[in-house]
Amino acid sequence: MPGARSIFAILAFPSAYAQWDPSRYLYFTTAGNSLSSSLPLGNGRLGAAVYGSAIEKVSLNENSVWSGSWQDRGNVNSKDALSSIRQKLQNGDLSGAGKQVLDTMSGVPTSPKQYHPTVDMEIDFGHISLDNYMRVLDTSQGTGWVTYTAGGVNYTRKYVASYPAGVLAFRMTSAPVRKLNATISLSRKQGVQSHSASISGDNSITLKVNKGSIAFTSEARVVNDKGSVASDGTSITVSDATTIDIFFDTETSYRYSSQSAREAELKKKLDNAVEAGYLAVRTAAVTDASAILGRMNLDLGSSGAAGNEPIPTRLSNYKKNANAGPELVVLYFNYGRHLLLASSRDTGDRSLPANLQGLWNDQYSPPWQSKYTININTEMNYWPALITNLAETNKALFDLIDTARPRGAAMAQKMYGCDNGFVIHHNTDLWGDAAPVDKGTPYMMWPMGGAWLSQHLMEHYRFTQDKAFLQHRAWPVLKQAADFYYCYLFMYDGHYVTGPSLSPENTYIVPSNMKTAGRQEGIDIAPAIDNQLLWELFTNIIDAAKILGIMGTDLTNAQNYLSKIKAPQVGSKGQTLEWRNEYKESEPGHRHMSPLFVQNLSRCFESTHRWRMRAGSGSTGWSRVWAMNLYARLFEGATIWSHAETFLQTYPLENLFNSGENRWFQIDGNFGFTSAIAEMLLQSHSVVHILPALPASAVPNGSVKGLFARGNFVVDIEWSGGSMTGATVTARSGGQLALRVENGADFEVNGKAYTAPINTTAGVKYDITKK
Ligand SMILES: *[C@@H]1O[C@H](CO)[C@@H](O)[C@H](O)[C@H]1NC(C)=O
Ligand SMILES: *[C@@H]1O[C@H](CO)[C@@H](O)[C@H](O)[C@H]1NC(C)=O
Ligand SMILES: *[C@@H]1O[C@H](CO)[C@@H](O)[C@H](O)[C@H]1NC(C)=O
Ligand SMILES: *[C@@H]1O[C@H](CO)[C@@H](O)[C@H](O)[C@H]1NC(C)=O
Ligand SMILES: *[C@@H]1O[C@H](CO)[C@@H](O)[C@H](O)[C@H]1NC(C)=O
Repeated sequence: MPGARSIFAILAFPSAYAQWDPSRYLYFTTAGNSLSSSLPLGNGRLGAAVYGSAIEKVSLNENSVWSGSWQDRGNVNSKDALSSIRQKLQNGDLSGAGKQVLDTMSGVPTSPKQYHPTVDMEIDFGHISLDNYMRVLDTSQGTGWVTYTAGGVNYTRKYVASYPAGVLAFRMTSAPVRKLNATISLSRKQGVQSHSASISGDNSITLKVNKGSIAFTSEARVVNDKGSVASDGTSITVSDATTIDIFFDTETSYRYSSQSAREAELKKKLDNAVEAGYLAVRTAAVTDASAILGRMNLDLGSSGAAGNEPIPTRLSNYKKNANAGPELVVLYFNYGRHLLLASSRDTGDRSLPANLQGLWNDQYSPPWQSKYTININTEMNYWPALITNLAETNKALFDLIDTARPRGAAMAQKMYGCDNGFVIHHNTDLWGDAAPVDKGTPYMMWPMGGAWLSQHLMEHYRFTQDKAFLQHRAWPVLKQAADFYYCYLFMYDGHYVTGPSLSPENTYIVPSNMKTAGRQEGIDIAPAIDNQLLWELFTNIIDAAKILGIMGTDLTNAQNYLSKIKAPQVGSKGQTLEWRNEYKESEPGHRHMSPLFVQNLSRCFESTHRWRMRAGSGSTGWSRVWAMNLYARLFEGATIWSHAETFLQTYPLENLFNSGENRWFQIDGNFGFTSAIAEMLLQSHSVVHILPALPASAVPNGSVKGLFARGNFVVDIEWSGGSMTGATVTARSGGQLALRVENGADFEVNGKAYTAPINTTAGVKYDITKK
């Protein structure tokens, strides 16, 4: 990590910007002025968005600060209406069914809680104009810093989010010494109950909130070297100091129900951090984050001089000409890994996963409530978790699923009269809210959230081979998810089907042979995505039962239901049918690619995808990267690359946050981009497939180290001239290794021709070479 001295050395020679590895650092020569131009840092629970402005602004978040407490929104009229709605669907009265769904099944109130800002920190240095300005985020350590001169003095601000210490820690310094003045304050627009600063004993600023949100206490501790300290009762002013350290924490009623318990936790964390001191807190934080992020390294070649520009220039150059180099792709990939680790860690029994904005939010009405949208977006957040070797980030997602299960079990009873199993609809919140969300036929009535989320636990097992995890964490979720459908599904036309349900957020035109022909509707029986999710769920149950030696009804139910799920239907254009019938779509270029859930290499999958893309899909950041991930399954490297270029020319905000509709921040596109780049280089859906979709002409030479594959294999690959020059596979737990290289090329393992899967030994490395 370059210290202040090396930073200033570089400032003296601007051409030496080359030293800032263009694949690793986001750097700016101007301050940020919004969340989407800030430097985002986080320890999985606390987030900091650093503006680096003259009067420093840091927007602070704690991921359990939401708009309120638990509320049972389930609609008591659902259960009695269910059979009449199903009858209407079967009779072809799609509009009638849709209307009755809205009338009887929508949540009361219609929306769950929303994610809220915690507090803002301001640090007023008395500086007006900042010269020789630099602002940097290091994606390999999760740290940020700002350097500048003002009034002939050199100033440095450093920022770190510590996972081990559970706090944020900032250090400000001046050179020469004792030139640092700062007034530090915390503020919040809503619900502040008390706000105070104290300089007797600890120098602390405390803000307590207990209205319009869950209750919490935030505190900043100020530690100065040299200088004097004063307070006006709400802020702290330090004068003539050489360094000022600030430690910050927030603890909430979500994790500690009594005020005394959360304030004891707050005091403990801050006391420990102050006692250890900034340097020790920083060293431990950097050691932790860089060990995890450093498991992987990606090199796609150099961008040359184009990579040495500040981020805004790199982005605008790239817009004009994507030949501005592959390092922007690699930086975006690395940034995705940094953002995931920063927003999703094991922070105790009730860890919270990355929401629609990770954990960075400065608005009381954020886009889509910044919640957990589980009809694609939350799942996409976790696509890079395993393949890019960040398995521990999954824990927070699994904790939220466990929080949601009892809620979902109560909802299964209340809405559908099902005594077993759990159901969640298309969104959830920190309480595991399980009711339908918002009120509209294209999105509200979708009882498949539990099925989709449960798949992530089975995949976690497939990658890690951790049987204890499969037995104690994954199996209970899979079983409870499946148990719901054994009660809920009904027989129609010889199949077990869902209904009322929908194909996420898409609509069709009611055909002429059904009632209300010509109307735009969303509700139906057995949309393709539901069948495919059920197919996956029952297959996962059967696979898990086999590994765990589970017999009896858990196994036989899954086998029975699997055999009666409707197979994918092919339409007149060779596409996978999205709904029960070949309805005309209202929006052929829809952003969701739901019918392609089972990313199968069948022809109809391919034609549906192309058809939707031709019609203009990929219209939001996350939809575009969804397309990239699908093209990876089609082994079309050049197409992935061209979408990656379009993505980078279109969707990144100033700090490379992905944008959704209307250019607002939505983090799923950051994560989906990262997974798509990984899937270009390695896939392990059925075999460990090396370079399945390399864009050979765009990135002829390169290497990747530390990708993670199903079977608990770690894979390093090098290539040149568009083809593999060597790879190693490290078997973490032994087991069978089935391999494929590129498009079925011949290769050797440890110098012997590969003809069939090999039995590996735990801890041993296998060298793969081409003949
Ligand atoms: C401040 O930074 C400049 C530029 O790098 C350097 O030449 C100078 O020595 C620094 N001043 C102090 C007091 O460290
Ligand atoms: C800091 O504040 C003190 C007290 O107001 C003042 O004397 C001093 O000049 C200030 N230092 C700088 C570098 O502005
Ligand atoms: C996937 O495709 C194969 C044929 O290529 C087919 O047998 C299988 O049923 C398909 N699975 C799903 C869930 O679509
Ligand atoms: C890739 O490597 C080959 C041979 O090592 C070299 O001739 C070629 O210029 C390289 N291409 C790029 C784009 O770096
Ligand atoms: C690999 O292991 C399996 C099961 O342990 C065994 O049946 C098979 O014969 C082994 N294959 C080779 C090539 O050693």
